[in-house]
Amino acid sequence: MKFNYYTFDAYGTLFDVHSAVDRHRDLVGPMAARVSEVWRNKQLEYSWTRNSMGRYREFWELTEQALDFALASTPGANIEAKSKLLSAYETLDCYDDVAGVLRQLKEQGAKTAVLSNGSPAMLESAVNHAKICELLDETISVDPIKTYKATQTVYALVSDIFDTQPGEISYQSSNRWDIAGAKTFGFYCQWINRTAQPDEYFDLQADTVHSNLLGIIN
Ligand code: LAC
Repeated sequence: MKFNYYTFDAYGTLFDVHSAVDRHRDLVGPMAARVSEVWRNKQLEYSWTRNSMGRYREFWELTEQALDFALASTPGANIEAKSKLLSAYETLDCYDDVAGVLRQLKEQGAKTAVLSNGSPAMLESAVNHAKICELLDETISVDPIKTYKATQTVYALVSDIFDTQPGEISYQSSNRWDIAGAKTFGFYCQWINRTAQPDEYFDLQADTVHSNLLGIIN
């Protein structure tokens, strides 16, 4: 199905959140993969708990606190790696399929956007580093409304900016919980299951499932 509007989650969907630790694997230590997993999981946990408490702090701060926890809780992890890991998070690797798919969507005449928990400066840095700035019509951060996904007002930022109905927007995320939130809002949802995760949130199904972004244009 072709849409006039395509919106993408950032972390895990466009950008590889594990590429920061991958770049400094030797410095981090033998449990580097675990550090990266805990870092990501804690970053998300903090966004959900702060949402439920109504105590928003920006995503960059949560990212730093999550890294502190990941390093402190992983046996043998080198705490000295912190500043290099944080800098690497500002320039995460972009997945190989991203630029080509965005270009094709633009050639079809579609509008493209990123919708992310990321702070505006984090998103600007990642998008510029990936050289996909000119392929995006909008890069939307939750920061102006001080709440995180899956609060429904986050998804409304997109339909408001594009001035269209949720059902006219195709939403792509690798995060299954984010797909559940976007489905609740009424987007057409394409789950980009990059890491072959089992399905969940069975009452909030994705409309399609693909192993990478190429699936949305084929
Ligand atoms: C984001 C996180 C949730 O980019 O991946 O919003």
